[in-house]
Amino acid sequence: MVEEALRLKASLEGELSSAADLAAVEALMVKYLGRKGLITSLMRSLGGVPQEERPRVGKELNLVKEACDQAVRDRMREMEVLRQRMEEERNVVDVSIPPCGRPYGRFHPVAQTMEEIIKVFVSLGFSVATGPEIETDFYNFEALNFKAHHPARDMQDTFFLEDQRLLRTHTSPVQVRSMLSLGAPLRIVIPGRVYRRDSDPTHSPMFHQVEGLLLDEDVSVADLKGCLQVFVDSIFGRKLKSRFRGSYFPFTEPSMEMDVECVVCNGQDPSCRVCKGTGWLEILGAGMVHPNVLKSGGVDPERFGGFAWGMGVDRIAMLKYGLSDLRPLFEADLFYLTGGNGR
Ligand code: PHE
Repeated sequence: MVEEALRLKASLEGELSSAADLAAVEALMVKYLGRKGLITSLMRSLGGVPQEERPRVGKELNLVKEACDQAVRDRMREMEVLRQRMEEERNVVDVSIPPCGRPYGRFHPVAQTMEEIIKVFVSLGFSVATGPEIETDFYNFEALNFKAHHPARDMQDTFFLEDQRLLRTHTSPVQVRSMLSLGAPLRIVIPGRVYRRDSDPTHSPMFHQVEGLLLDEDVSVADLKGCLQVFVDSIFGRKLKSRFRGSYFPFTEPSMEMDVECVVCNGQDPSCRVCKGTGWLEILGAGMVHPNVLKSGGVDPERFGGFAWGMGVDRIAMLKYGLSDLRPLFEADLFYLTGGNGR
C-alpha cells in the first residue's frame, strides 16, 4: 500500500512538472488530493490494513500525502512567479513607441493674437475696457461725429436689428462709453468682436478689433506714432519699417492709416500675395481724437486731447501665422486650427 502511494506520488510529480499553467496544477490537485482523489481514496482504504500494521502504514501514508501537498504548493508558487513575470513584461512602458496623437486643446489663433496685443499695451500702462456688441446708433455713429446722413455710415456696411439697434461695426463706441464712465486722463485698450456685411478671403462678417484710446494733457501725433511703433516691433518680434498715410475717419482729426513693411516678403517680392507686391501692409486706422467726440464723452477738449486707433486682430493673426485666407479661422475646423494636431 505504501508502495502504491509512492507510485502515485511519482506520477503526480511527473504530471506536475509537465503542467502548463495554474489551471492544470489545480486539476492535478483535484485528481490526486481532492475528496475523491487517488491518494485520498488510497488513504481511505487504510481500514483494510491489519490492525497491528495500521499505525506504521498510516504514518507513512501521511508522510507521502504531505509530500504530495507540498509538491503541488511548490508548483503553484512557481506558476504564480511565472505569471507575475509575464504580466510585468506585458506592462513594460516602451518609451520608444511614438505617441498615438491624442487630441489636445489650444487657444484659437485669433484669441492668442488678441492676448499678445493686449499684453503689449498693458506693459505700456493701458487698462482693458469692453462694451456691448449690440449697440445703438448713438454710440456707434452719432457720438463719434458721424452726421445723420454722412456717407461714412455706408462705408461701415451695418447689420441693423429691430428697435433701431445694430451690431457694432467697430470698437470705437466703447471710446465714448469709457470717457463717460471713467473720464480723463485715460489710457485703455478695447478688445472685441465687430460686424460688417462683408465676406471675401480677407473679410469675414464677424471680425475682431483692438481699439486704443489715450487722453491726457499735451498729447501729440508724435506720441501716437511712437506708441504704435513700439507696438508693431513687439508684436512681430523685430524692428519693422512703418509709414503713416493720411486718411479719413469722422471721429479723428487728423486721421491716418499705419502700414508696416510686409512681414511675409520683407518688401522683396513683387509677386507677393500678401502685400500684392507693394511691400506694405495696412494694419490699423488711427488719429487724434476729434473734439466733438471728446464732447460726446463729457471730456473738456480745451484741457484734454489724445489719440485713438483701431486695429484688425484677424489681419494681424494672418500676418503672424502666414495665412492667405481669413475665413477658415471661423469655420471651427479643429484640424486647421490646431495645425494638424487636433485629431
Ligand atoms: N474705427 C475705425 C475702423 O473700424 C478704426 C479707427 C479707430 C480709426 C480709432 C481711428 C481711430 O475702421
